[in-house]
Amino acid sequence: MPKPAEDFAKTLVAWQRHHGRHDLPWQATRDPYRIWVSEIMLQQTQVATVIPYYARFMARFPDVRSLAAAREEEVLELWAGLGYYARGRNLHAAARAIAARPDAGFPRRANALSELPGIGRSTAAAIAVFAWNERAAILDGNVKRVLARCFGIEGFPGERAVETRLWALAQELLPRRAVRGYTQGLMDLGATLCTRTRPHCERCPYAGRCEAKRTKRVDELPTRRPRKIHPLREATWLVLRDAGRVLLQRRPPQGLWGGLWTFPEIERDVLRARCRNDFGCELRSTRPLAPIEHSFTHFRLRAVPLLCIVSSIEPRARSSGLRWVELGRATAVAAPAPVHRLLAELSAL
Ligand code: ADE
Repeated sequence: MPKPAEDFAKTLVAWQRHHGRHDLPWQATRDPYRIWVSEIMLQQTQVATVIPYYARFMARFPDVRSLAAAREEEVLELWAGLGYYARGRNLHAAARAIAARPDAGFPRRANALSELPGIGRSTAAAIAVFAWNERAAILDGNVKRVLARCFGIEGFPGERAVETRLWALAQELLPRRAVRGYTQGLMDLGATLCTRTRPHCERCPYAGRCEAKRTKRVDELPTRRPRKIHPLREATWLVLRDAGRVLLQRRPPQGLWGGLWTFPEIERDVLRARCRNDFGCELRSTRPLAPIEHSFTHFRLRAVPLLCIVSSIEPRARSSGLRWVELGRATAVAAPAPVHRLLAELSAL
């Protein structure tokens, strides 16, 4: 193994032992199921947010079989507030795929894990390292940042060529032994010291050899995503309110926010007809609320919530995929973050 690679791994393992995290709930197990769920929840979500969700999820679904047997809606309800629901949906689909295997057991190698829904190459490696001590390299967003800085890798890591280079480096750096401590060390360094903004280089065990530090480019590496102006999509959200309840509509399973509960989108000029025909509601008053902005990968959304106070409801006008939700219980609904924020504001109105 080349000397710099060996030094990097040794430094990281020694640092992790004394300064890394050792008492996270998913570190107390070698059960691939429990590790898998933690790794999925930790994608794009911080440890402190994940911990209570993880505890609830484990209490309700202690093993693959219980998860596979659940209804998707129940899984998504336990996910409510964590965001990125595709993760929960994939977790459920993968549990079903595992339960349907001839031995109903977990695939035993990183390669096989990465065939399951929602388990990419890095997540598969993390599970295999922590569960079976397999010698597999991880490369999530935090690790990309650590490697780009320590080894001075230029270019936006979302670009194929840069990513390929980072994978090769991640593979090359992998030590022969102590893969668990090394992998946890990479994660811990990225999460606690080598942070995106205001990194704590003064406490970093690798600062003396870090290429970004040496060339004063810590703020410039990793290279940021090239700026693109995304198109703006405008929408009106119908907030039908009847005393302490609001009407939510379930989105079609495919597409944006698929399967989640949101406010119905409407055309303003057919408001009253739509409320009468589709929702059986007559309106007493309407008033626009402050617009909500949300960025997706390829466009921005600007939604104007139109608060409509209902004067009467025709009970027979019930179509499926509609649900009156008590504002006091809205946090338990599987809804996207901007919808949750608006629901919270409505309770305070
Ligand atoms: N982020 C991703 N995986 C993690 C883990 N196992 N421990 C802490 N943070 C993580």
